[in-house]
Amino acid sequence: MKLMVVGGGGREHAIIKSLKKNRDVSEIYALPGNGGIAKDATCVPIAAKDIEGMVRFAKEQNINFAVVAPDDPLVLGAVDALEAAGVPCFGPSRAAAAIEGSKVFSKRLMEQYHIPTAKYQVFTRAEDAIAYLKAENTYPAVIKADGLALGKGVIIAETEEEATAGVHQIMTERAFGDSGNQVVIEEFLTGPEVSVLSFTDGETIVPMVSSMDHKRALDGDKGLNTGGMGTVAPNPFYTEDVAKECMETIFLPTIKAMAKEGRPFKGCLYFGLMLTQKGPRVIEYNCRFGDPETQVVLPLLETDLLTIMQAVHDGRLDEVDVKFSPGAACCVVAASGGYPKSYQSGYPISFGKAEEMENVTIFHAGTKTGASGEILTSGGRVLGVTATGETLEMARAKAYNAVKEISFTDMFYRNDIGARCK
Ligand code: AMP
Ligand code: GLY
Repeated sequence: MKLMVVGGGGREHAIIKSLKKNRDVSEIYALPGNGGIAKDATCVPIAAKDIEGMVRFAKEQNINFAVVAPDDPLVLGAVDALEAAGVPCFGPSRAAAAIEGSKVFSKRLMEQYHIPTAKYQVFTRAEDAIAYLKAENTYPAVIKADGLALGKGVIIAETEEEATAGVHQIMTERAFGDSGNQVVIEEFLTGPEVSVLSFTDGETIVPMVSSMDHKRALDGDKGLNTGGMGTVAPNPFYTEDVAKECMETIFLPTIKAMAKEGRPFKGCLYFGLMLTQKGPRVIEYNCRFGDPETQVVLPLLETDLLTIMQAVHDGRLDEVDVKFSPGAACCVVAASGGYPKSYQSGYPISFGKAEEMENVTIFHAGTKTGASGEILTSGGRVLGVTATGETLEMARAKAYNAVKEISFTDMFYRNDIGARCK
């Protein structure tokens, strides 16, 4: 089988490494891939958002199965276009991807189908949003751009000034373009956060092992929000009782709601949850695998990934027994100094002994291949260093041992990934 994976980050590297384990796979193309992915797949310089380009390539190469991993192409309709051209895909249609592509859509869906989430209001004019914030006068206030915003569209404002500035940034200055046509202002919730990725064919839903992201740049959850600086799986706050409650009140109601709306969701549906005093609440849905959650979840998957993905595509997920190993995983992200703000790249990476360490996998996120085959940095998040172990403590220790072997100019990482899980 010839496969095509759209995307070029750490998540896609993890997906490709899992797909490669299937012996029927003869070739994997990554569009566009990266320096590390190039060792596991053939990288093709077609951007993840170039839908025409990917359709043309898939037809030329007679691709048997495609995986569209990032949010942008999914929200733009890449799966619809590929399927229309006869290429079977793993990933939601454009209509289903709206669950991530529009916060207004997802909040209304949850309200209509009684799925627990933060209370909210929608605004299409900055003045109205600001007047509402003034009248409510409760802080922190949570302000979200409706559309995709590279993970930066959520503002947690501590004061009226910050809230007003946030609304103007999104709606007046249009920092995220049309994504700021509307804003959602919602209740601030507290509690441990859990990420649950799930496989669903629109009818059956199979949650994967739970995980915990670490979104802030610095130790102790200080610094700016990032795409994610590290993850652990399983998430110790996600007990069996919580899992059962989430299945009944959130997971099943969500896929039923999407089917009822004529937007059956097929692919990986990501639930960003907060475990509040009053029970689990949905903070966000993503229409795709999380990054860097995938880098701890897939290394624990025991069932063949391609088999699951094909079953999702064919609508027979109920026939597959999806199994995870009972162990744990920890992923520490090595980032470029300055990230998530501006940073320099093009620095050579030295891996020391990290690549040979047992139960350690280095997923490349922002890397490229230099003129003589060396690996250079080329992004904010550069590597995701994952280790697996019998316990989380063992996985953490191993991941940090591996990270300490690695170096590049201005490299930084958090020292406390998984520390609060003890
Ligand atoms: P998102 O981009 O939707 O994942 O939001 C980024 C982060 O903002 C989340 O991981 C939460 O930590 C935080 N957040 C979002 N919505 C809320 C809320 N209603 N209450 C408290 N924190 C929130
Ligand atoms: N790690 C969070 C996300 O993928 O959106």
